[in-house]
Amino acid sequence: MFMFATYKISDQFSLSRHVVVHPGDCLDLLHRIPDESMQLIVTSPPYNIGKEYEKKLKLDAYLDQQAEVIRECVRALSPHGSICWQVGNYVDNGSIIPLDTVLYPIFTEFGLTMRNRIIWHFEHGLHCSKRFSGRYETIIWFTKTKEYLFNLDPVRVPQKYPGKKYFKGPKAGKYSCNPLGKNPGDLWVIPNVKSNHVEKTGHPCQFPVELIERLVLSMTNEGDWVFDPFLGTGTTIVAALRHDRRGAGAETVPDYAHIARDRIQQEMDGTLRTRPMHKPVYDPEKAGNKLTVAPWGTRRNSAQMVFLEQE
Ligand SMILES: C[S@@+](CC[C@H](N)C(=O)[O-])C[C@H]1O[C@@H](n2cnc3c(N)ncnc32)[C@H](O)[C@@H]1O
Repeated sequence: MFMFATYKISDQFSLSRHVVVHPGDCLDLLHRIPDESMQLIVTSPPYNIGKEYEKKLKLDAYLDQQAEVIRECVRALSPHGSICWQVGNYVDNGSIIPLDTVLYPIFTEFGLTMRNRIIWHFEHGLHCSKRFSGRYETIIWFTKTKEYLFNLDPVRVPQKYPGKKYFKGPKAGKYSCNPLGKNPGDLWVIPNVKSNHVEKTGHPCQFPVELIERLVLSMTNEGDWVFDPFLGTGTTIVAALRHDRRGAGAETVPDYAHIARDRIQQEMDGTLRTRPMHKPVYDPEKAGNKLTVAPWGTRRNSAQMVFLEQE
């Protein structure tokens, strides 16, 4: 039977600990983290859109604030390590600014190299009426050196055609794909944590544990430190502990820090409910959900016919 390891959840950072939830500002925590000691730094920072936990700032002031945190993260990052910043859009008077585009220069000015811009696609969110509804966010992944750790095998996914064989050449008749699965690519389809998601807490924007598990598994080894400056409900530490890594993070809002401690404790006790990695996205039609049959019959077709007539 799998045994869950239980560690004390500390408030302050020390390399001898396993789990650190600092109830306060991330810079205070970062200042106590030794140089080059973190293998993975992954976070979803405030997007500066006026959520309950943030004060909306002018974009330049927000970017200065982010740069201060990023500078400290770069100092704390191992030469073999990775930084992943998960962001969406900043919205200013109806105009959207993809945050990855304005944060990118900050990371490169600190000497980091971008390795991927991962598109995280999900199906749920606000329904816009004056533009197409936003259904993706990005994870921008940077490394400090060329000698960065990247373990592809633990995150491979099944091929579309696992039975495919070479049909000519010296390998003819042999299976053409890796039996461990294929590279998951840079477009990740993972449900976001909305109302009926099993991981939903009172926090307005958690990321799902499975999103971070993929980063933890591919960018760290067992025993490595994973750090999240904007910890929220502790998702990053949950994903780290699940795979025998160490986790640290800071959260300024006491209620969220409390939820984080609670979830981390549940993870260590083996009772935290999460959506499993690799679970297929729910397809209501395949599941035979009756609500997929439109009660208005052929209206969709007739609307389309009107549209065609107008062409
Ligand atoms: C987008 S949320 C992160 C949610 C997290 N990814 C999760 O899964 O729960 C950003 C969090 O950063 C916290 N925060 C904002 N400024 C902070 C700071 N200076 N130091 C630490 N936490 C901060 C906010 O209270 C908020 O909970």
